[in-house]
Amino acid sequence: MNQPEQRQERGLLQDQAVIANNAGRWPYNAATHVIRTILFVVGTRPEAIKMAPVILACRREPWVKVRVLATAQHREMLDQVLDVFDIKPDIDLNIMRDNQTLPELTARLMIALDDAFACEGPDVVLAQGDTTSAMVAALAAFYRRIPFGHVEGGLRTGDLDYPFPEEMNRVVAGRLARWHFAPTQSARTNLLAEGIDKDRIALTGNTVIDALVEMSKRCDKYAPKISPGKRLVLVTAHRRENFGEPFAEICRAIKYLADTRCDVEFLYPVHPNPNVRETAIRLLGQHPRIRLCDPMEYLPFVAAMKSAHFILSDSGGVQEEAPALGKPVLVLRSETERPEAVSEGVVKLVGTNFNAIVRESLRLLDDSNAYQAMARGISPYGDGHASQRIVEVLRQDLVIPHRPQRVANAC
Ligand code: UD1
Ligand code: UDP
Repeated sequence: MNQPEQRQERGLLQDQAVIANNAGRWPYNAATHVIRTILFVVGTRPEAIKMAPVILACRREPWVKVRVLATAQHREMLDQVLDVFDIKPDIDLNIMRDNQTLPELTARLMIALDDAFACEGPDVVLAQGDTTSAMVAALAAFYRRIPFGHVEGGLRTGDLDYPFPEEMNRVVAGRLARWHFAPTQSARTNLLAEGIDKDRIALTGNTVIDALVEMSKRCDKYAPKISPGKRLVLVTAHRRENFGEPFAEICRAIKYLADTRCDVEFLYPVHPNPNVRETAIRLLGQHPRIRLCDPMEYLPFVAAMKSAHFILSDSGGVQEEAPALGKPVLVLRSETERPEAVSEGVVKLVGTNFNAIVRESLRLLDDSNAYQAMARGISPYGDGHASQRIVEVLRQDLVIPHRPQRVANAC
């Protein structure tokens, strides 16, 4: 059998499987209804968390044939998330290598994604965010002339060096996208300022809040143990632009706080990147009030956010989730592509300076007015229904006949 025939045969089998999957849900006639194959590309932990609600929403749609491709840019951190959402990838590229360089990763992803796209022949490719997996998926889809949808489009700092290389990844993915699923009004404004047609931008909210809402209902039994009379500070850090001295400075500030404050315990799930891990263990290991551990599964991590007094983090996702849980975040960066929570006063940028981290942490520990002002529990990034809006936009464009190829604003 030649390649188009193989593809056609695989497509037919998959169509039958989709119809079988949907049997009993509602009368569905493949002869009169369209089935569209959507290939979801996920590579890292945050992409999987944020794409899972969209995958699960598409699984419920009889017109979608869902295919999930894991690049496995991350390995165990990705697998943990896919397991918790009960998603098994149909294709796994197993790309991760220890301490992989960006050029190696980019090159290997391009070849492997192009092969997969050729073999699968999807109608649409969707990817999420700003990782190398997302950027290369957009470019590989472009080369194959497959329409690409960008989930969490439009976030910008305006500086290609911060975050590095993620700002560039987002700009490239955005330039190539047919659908831009902007989580916030400011993301939509950024896209409009770059000349993107407004009909291709849908304001959806961030799918991370969809995931958080679900996990938040299930997570309480995983709450971390905290010694009586102590308050928990949760820490995460992994950004490439902080490697070296800035990250060492962050660790020295945490150690100082742990040394001087007997009423506080730190919980720090350490990112497996060797550039982070070695420094964290060397500077923070063995401290009685600092608990270093492996990356936490999503349910226990959400439980830890809920249990924390406040959070020190350079993570994008944590900046979005913590405000919805009413937890202040001190962001270990000097800029952010997520300005909404900063403007609301529930997230503060403290950078990597020792004095700033210590000063702002002490303020949250000792000044209850300052703490309450940051612990208000607002959700500027979403209402938990972003994935439904994304599915509806795709349905209108891909299924409803004779509709011009435009994206309506979903909210
Ligand atoms: C990547 C993303 C970043 C995202 C972060 C989420 C890019 C350029 N960066 O960062 O935007 O915020 O993921 O965590 O795409 N490793 C493991 N096991 C894992 C994952 C990583 O051992 O499950 C180690 C490996 O040695 C790997 C290294 O960490 O080579 C770095 O992984 P990489 O995917 O390059 O992650 P980051 O650049 O840290
Ligand atoms: N997270 C997790 N376990 C951890 C640390 C983080 O499940 O030990 C979750 C967190 O809730 C958020 C996501 O991972 O949803 C953020 O991932 P990361 O910080 O690696 O990437 P970023 O968001 O900065 O791209």
